[in-house]
Amino acid sequence: MAFTDAAVDWAALEAAAVAAMGKAYAPYSKFPVGAAALTEDGRIVSGCNVENASYGLTLCAECALVGALHLGGGGRLRAFYCVDGKGNVLMPCGRCRQLLYEFRAPGMQLMTTQGIKTMDQVLPDAFGPDNLEENR
Ligand code: THU
Repeated sequence: MAFTDAAVDWAALEAAAVAAMGKAYAPYSKFPVGAAALTEDGRIVSGCNVENASYGLTLCAECALVGALHLGGGGRLRAFYCVDGKGNVLMPCGRCRQLLYEFRAPGMQLMTTQGIKTMDQVLPDAFGPDNLEENR
């Protein structure tokens, strides 16, 4: 067990993700997304997707989330929840799994369509900061 402190309040994370989804700027895909995460020190950070007329420049909700994490003092992510426009659990895209991996706390958990999983389960054999050290 990676964490010995209080259990994750998944309902609070879901509510924060839904609130963030309500702020999404998704006029092109019409697919609003909200993401929220609990930091190791108990903060909730969130983000929504922000699209662009140049479609490929779209920022996923997780991009805003990691920006908010850093802006709010940094730290590590302990638990993560992402929702679509209906409030249903949404799996983070591959690129966003990598973004989250960078800031994971040990044993980080994600709410998935298959229930709670660990970061290592949703991004196995990941490339990360340690790989950069190996060949220096
Ligand atoms: N999207 C996210 O915000 N996060 C994901 O993990 C998956 C996809 C957004 C990007 C785009 O604005 C919309 O969902 C449709 O792909």
